[in-house]
Amino acid sequence: MLELKNVTRRFGPNTAVDNVDFAIPEGQMVGVIGASGAGKSTLLRMINRLIDTSEGEINFGGVRTSALKGQQLRNWQRDCAMIFQQFNLVPRIDVLTNVMLGRLNHRSTVASLLNIFSDEERAMAIAALERLGIEKVALQRAGTLSGGQQQRVAIARALMQQPKVILADEPIASLDPRNAQIVMQSLKDINQSDGITVITNLHTLDTARSFCERIIGMQAGRVVFDGGPDDLTEDAARKIYGADNLEDAFSEAVTSTSLNGSRSKSSGSERPPVARPAAEQNPVYA
Ligand SMILES: Nc1ncnc2c1ncn2[C@@H]1O[C@H](COP(=O)(O)OP(=O)(O)O)[C@@H](O)[C@H]1O
Ligand SMILES: [Mg+2]
Repeated sequence: MLELKNVTRRFGPNTAVDNVDFAIPEGQMVGVIGASGAGKSTLLRMINRLIDTSEGEINFGGVRTSALKGQQLRNWQRDCAMIFQQFNLVPRIDVLTNVMLGRLNHRSTVASLLNIFSDEERAMAIAALERLGIEKVALQRAGTLSGGQQQRVAIARALMQQPKVILADEPIASLDPRNAQIVMQSLKDINQSDGITVITNLHTLDTARSFCERIIGMQAGRVVFDGGPDDLTEDAARKIYGADNLEDAFSEAVTSTSLNGSRSKSSGSERPPVARPAAEQNPVYA
């Protein structure tokens, strides 16, 4: 269980995250949505301790992660892998090495300094690439891949951390709809087969509704919606995005996983069916 208790983050006079309070049980797939500036990134960054909270506390499995220091803090950062919009790979080195870099937090300093990877780590990295369907590019330099492939490499690297939680900050914002779909499906598969909790910030509502079993909507730093995909009515969307930006929220043209540009009828479209777990399976917000 990941638990946020009255979490607030201020930047000078501005409050980026305002008294946020929720709990996420292990294995849940959660989408955090909201307009630009709503506080989504700040929220994820506090969970993984890239930044500190101003007030409140964050606990995972009964441990107050918001207060950890030193090695324990590094262990926590290993347990919650982060995926970014811009992939954050090392473009000039090969894909396999990029993936193995996900092991850095598991290794001794000397092994890290010498850049020595064991056969086991190599096998693990190849298995992760296979799982994401990109083993063929293992020896290519990461910078030569398409955005969709790079994001899959980043997910493989995250898997190497053997994380308990994956935090993804707008992982599909730079991808075309087809690759966006592949990346979201990969995250969902990992969530379902490994039971890893996934919390992903998403710009559009459509994607969150298709892939996440729980959606948290933020507006001006506050949580204004917390429920299942079917609870996300137009009224709820208006509360999250504001009446003037509704168009944006439903926009299929940009940053969306919809392949045919419409939520309705996909006649002959290649959009695969997406499992939507029933709300009753998630008693936490029932
Ligand atoms: N490092 C920072 N310094 C100052 N203000 C920041 C910083 N990071 C975020 N903010 C502010 O906090 C608010 C929330 O930002 P952010 O968490 O990035 O929102 P989102 O990810 O939803 O777009 C914004 O007003 C943003 O300008
Ligand atoms: Mg952001």
